[in-house]
Amino acid sequence: MNRRGLLTGGAAAVGGALVGAATAVAASSDEPAPVVRMKDVDYGHAIEPFHGRRQSGVDTRPQAFASFVGFTLKPGTDRAALGRMLRLLTDDAARLTQGRPALGDTEAELALLPARLTVTFGFGPGLYEAAGLAARRPASAVDLPAFAIDRLQARWSGGDLLLQICADDATTVAHAQRMLIKDARPFAAVRWVQRGFRRGRGVESDGATHRNLMGQLDGTVNPVVGSPSYDPAVWVRDGPVWLKDSTTLVLRRIRMEIETWDKLSRTDKELAVGRKLDTGAPLTGEREHDEPDFTAVDSVGLPVMPNFAHVTRAHVSDERLRILRRPYSYDGEPDAAGVPDSGLIFAAFQADIAQQYVPIQKRLAEQDLMNQWTTPIGSAVFAIPPGCAEGGWVGEQVLS
Ligand code: HEM
Repeated sequence: MNRRGLLTGGAAAVGGALVGAATAVAASSDEPAPVVRMKDVDYGHAIEPFHGRRQSGVDTRPQAFASFVGFTLKPGTDRAALGRMLRLLTDDAARLTQGRPALGDTEAELALLPARLTVTFGFGPGLYEAAGLAARRPASAVDLPAFAIDRLQARWSGGDLLLQICADDATTVAHAQRMLIKDARPFAAVRWVQRGFRRGRGVESDGATHRNLMGQLDGTVNPVVGSPSYDPAVWVRDGPVWLKDSTTLVLRRIRMEIETWDKLSRTDKELAVGRKLDTGAPLTGEREHDEPDFTAVDSVGLPVMPNFAHVTRAHVSDERLRILRRPYSYDGEPDAAGVPDSGLIFAAFQADIAQQYVPIQKRLAEQDLMNQWTTPIGSAVFAIPPGCAEGGWVGEQVLS
């Protein structure tokens, strides 16, 4: 079988067996044979750290699948009960992320392929209230102000506790979610679950910018892990133990009005964002990471990057005030008329929501061409407390 045949029809027939058997792929005569080895594609056993001063799942290169689980605390879940719950959930997460079954795991085999599983804990404002520790809540971790564009539904909004579960495999995510919900059940009820996806691992190179369901490259201008402005933008770096090494998460469910979006010409779609659809380059540039020139004008004197384009409105020049966007696509069931239920689970991490997220959201709510084709239908805000060392538990700095 030649390479072309393998990549099209033949691939289905040969499938995983080829990969697992570390087989050399036959190539057409003019190309060198690419060798596919098991070690290159063994994404199943890949592990992300769980213990550390900061929680995983923020700096972590986004995995292919995510489940965001929002909980409402049950009456009686006070400070002591929260400690019991978080010890249990931490133990589950510490095991599962390292490819070991949770205690009492009824399907232990499902835990053996962590596929870069991370479990990130978020505390909503109500958790601090329930614990009688409102003073320890990061000041900006409160519900966002209302915006005129919002059409928020209770079924996607709020929450006292969040578990952000991400992995490069949907089965791994489903199993971790089931174990964690089971152990949370005496203390908290599931309020909503939002499942999302990005490209599967190996489909394109690791680190390629995410393409959302509007077809745009989404995530080009984002704080870069390891750059001087990354930590100031994303992490709280000093203060009391319950704040140091914490961050905050804004989670917005944003519906894409795909039916009307698809009626636009390609040029209009590009003007709405200010970037080209194929390369993601700004309208004033050639390549994805070219700096946009917001002062450039065309032959009739109009700005090349429209004033109302999404990136013109969203742009933040001070890199320490940028937000870390880590979104996932969602794609639910189309309605009876076949209209898609698609959108973005927009997850943004930042050191301070009031200083960083809110000003951007205000500018977008006031004027952003994309508002015509996007509708926020859910909103929740969480503090992401510091991580824990081996033997410790997530939340110990807040609740102890
Ligand atoms: C469905 C909703 C949304 C879609 C489809 C979307 C899509 C995009 C795209 C395609 C870009 C350009 C490429 C890039 O730099 O990533 C972008 C940039 C950006 N977006 Fe959004 N976005 C959405 C909602 C939001 C929201 C709610 C916020 C924050 C409140 C936001 C903040 C930003 C920021 C800060 C940038 C980078 C701007 C720059 O400095 O160039 N976006 N978005």
